[in-house]
Amino acid sequence: MKNKSFSGKCEILPSLFAAPPLHLANALQKIEASGYRSVHFDIMDGHFVPNMSFGPEVVTAAREEFPSLFREVHLMVSHPPHWIESFYQSGAQRIFIHLEIEPAILQQSIQLLQQKNIPWGFAIHPETSLESLQAYISWLHQTDRLLVMSVYPGFSGQSYLSQTDERISFLRKHFPFLSLCVDGGLGSEHIQRLQTYGASSFVVGSCFFKTENNSACCGF
Ligand code: DX5
Ligand code: ZN
Repeated sequence: MKNKSFSGKCEILPSLFAAPPLHLANALQKIEASGYRSVHFDIMDGHFVPNMSFGPEVVTAAREEFPSLFREVHLMVSHPPHWIESFYQSGAQRIFIHLEIEPAILQQSIQLLQQKNIPWGFAIHPETSLESLQAYISWLHQTDRLLVMSVYPGFSGQSYLSQTDERISFLRKHFPFLSLCVDGGLGSEHIQRLQTYGASSFVVGSCFFKTENNSACCGF
């Protein structure tokens, strides 16, 4: 089977949060059967975002039942240090923390992630100023990639925020070393266009789980 996670140089990561909540195993089967190689787990604490999703036990189950799928965890939580150990134990292979959390907790989270030697990155809210990233340049050089939200964090099924095009172009120009991942509201036309602006990986939820022919939505 053609591995469709990478088409050319770009990577598609289906978001399990957008799958039917009572059919997560089927959803993981669909990801695997569709030739994708990674799963994006959206973790929400009902505090950083006004929603809740699932816990580390879902990542553990995915590791046990679908060991070949790469497990990326997007922590939309105010206090990542409470969660990093349990998601590390559950088999998270990359963890994103939000740049917008309390600075002291951000520092503590990064130290923990580095102690655990887990590939990690920042996720940034659509309203976070890109100029402000300059202050984090040394940390940015230690990250695996930057997760650029193209919807407001907390819900799948939202519409793509068009200002993301410009944000990706700005990031590509001013932070050329960063690997850029876009997350939220994506369809194939966004993916095709954002690749030309410099993004190389894409989290897809609704377009993957809510359309029959998901290759049409993801463009591959
Ligand atoms: C939103 C999440 C996204 C979302 C993607 O907070 O971070 O990963 O679930 O789903 P769609 O593609 O439907 O926006
Ligand atoms: Zn996400």
